[in-house]
Amino acid sequence: MQVTISSGNNINGTLVLPLFEGEEALPESVEGIPIALKSQINVVLGAGDFKAKANATLTLMGTDGGKAILIGLGKDAKADAQAYREAGATVVASLKKVHGNELTVVFHGADVANMAAFAEGMMLRDYSYDDYKQADEDDEEKAALAARINCSEANATALSQAVERAAAVSSGVHLSRDLGNCPPNDMYPMAFALKAEQWAKAYDNVKVEIIDYESAKRQGMGGLVAVGMGSARKPCMVIFTLNGEQKGRYPVLVGKGITFDTGGISLKPGANMDEMKYDMGGSATVFGTMEALAASGYGGKVVAITCMAENMPSSNAQRPGDVITTLSGKTIEVLNTDAEGRLVLSDGLWKAGTDFDPEYIIDFATLTGACVVALGHEATGLWSNDDDFRSRIHEAGNDVGELAWPMPLLPAFEKEMTNSKIADTRNLGAGRWGGANTAAAFLKQFVPERGEGDEAEQITWAHMDIAGTYWGAKTNKMVGHGATGIHVRTMVRLITGE
Ligand code: BES
Ligand code: ZN
Ligand code: ZN
Repeated sequence: MQVTISSGNNINGTLVLPLFEGEEALPESVEGIPIALKSQINVVLGAGDFKAKANATLTLMGTDGGKAILIGLGKDAKADAQAYREAGATVVASLKKVHGNELTVVFHGADVANMAAFAEGMMLRDYSYDDYKQADEDDEEKAALAARINCSEANATALSQAVERAAAVSSGVHLSRDLGNCPPNDMYPMAFALKAEQWAKAYDNVKVEIIDYESAKRQGMGGLVAVGMGSARKPCMVIFTLNGEQKGRYPVLVGKGITFDTGGISLKPGANMDEMKYDMGGSATVFGTMEALAASGYGGKVVAITCMAENMPSSNAQRPGDVITTLSGKTIEVLNTDAEGRLVLSDGLWKAGTDFDPEYIIDFATLTGACVVALGHEATGLWSNDDDFRSRIHEAGNDVGELAWPMPLLPAFEKEMTNSKIADTRNLGAGRWGGANTAAAFLKQFVPERGEGDEAEQITWAHMDIAGTYWGAKTNKMVGHGATGIHVRTMVRLITGE
């Protein structure tokens, strides 16, 4: 979708009119609306037939004044950026053929930030995954949407810049969704890596390195290798670097990238197993974040590490009972091959803290069903070894309408994961209780320390379990169905401060 800004009053195509709850007529100051349409709008508002509750819509047509979609913002005092973002998304979700492909948005009483949030909502929601559908005859009618926002001359430049930035960030969210929606026969570890390599060609300031199966084995990535070796599609690690020449510490993002999770020998039940194609959502999140940052021209250094593997049962697969040696040297007794995300992440986290110099490490993973039990599809589970850092991520998420909820990292959970009789750690808790917390505590053991002896301190780290929020999030208005692309925007906010 193309969004342009105009300081004129012309209305092209269908008028999109955001309204506050309780408005009984259009304010005099609203210009450019044909008389016939304006009086139709005022009749509807005056009669109380459209109350402008948040995300309510009404289409008007039939006069020679053209067509309009009224969209509710809710009460003026409560209409924050998220209300505008949701309203923009709702407009796009409710578009029908009659509305055509051209829209003109006319705001009243909105500042630049809120207008930009509305545009962002429109762009985020303007997404469908049709790569695997034959083109049909209606395709021409599905031509790209074009939206124009009319605003004052004084605001035009600032709004243009904000909208341009939102478009760049949306491209990262849409990339994450494309990766997550891609069927698992075409989205396997090396396919992801090759997409990354292809993507890097578009930018001078990004670099992509692929550590293939042979080299992962040579380097001692025992977690990644154990999970991926049972598949004909071998595992790999992909490392993205943005602005590598910049000095100083930088964020390092790590993604769980299980392109299909059958559970391995600890096979999952059949129902809904198809959804386990999105078990690479963590890697999609960090890849999408790199796109969002690169496309919006971010100048700082950022590194992303994606741990890609397909978890299959086969004669080459790892078994429950195996003991593996990870990159860190720590051994893990694998008690359940379906707890595989933590195994690949053990190598990713260790690599992040030892081969790089992170300001902080954040991992993203569709890690546990237990996190979905705890938080549903409404919030991501958020753990950190640094309370202030955890608050910063929580705030960044709130700022962009992506909830990440604080969860506890307790020594008792860590203890539960280390009492293997024959290895340093085990990949399964003692029972099913607190499964999202034991998983987080397990990961913590693979976050390296910095410094020597008494000075040694664990690198600032956070873990985000997106099992419930990356997929199936019905209340997320930014997306119709499928992969949500969540937290690309949270990361852009956290990293750039914008
Ligand atoms: N990929 C799953 C977690 C998952 C479940 C993601 C549902 C999205 C929706 C993960 O690899 C897994 O299978 N975890 C197990 C861990 C258990 C064996 C300790 C789980 O959650 O049941
Ligand atoms: Zn699993
Ligand atoms: Zn998994």
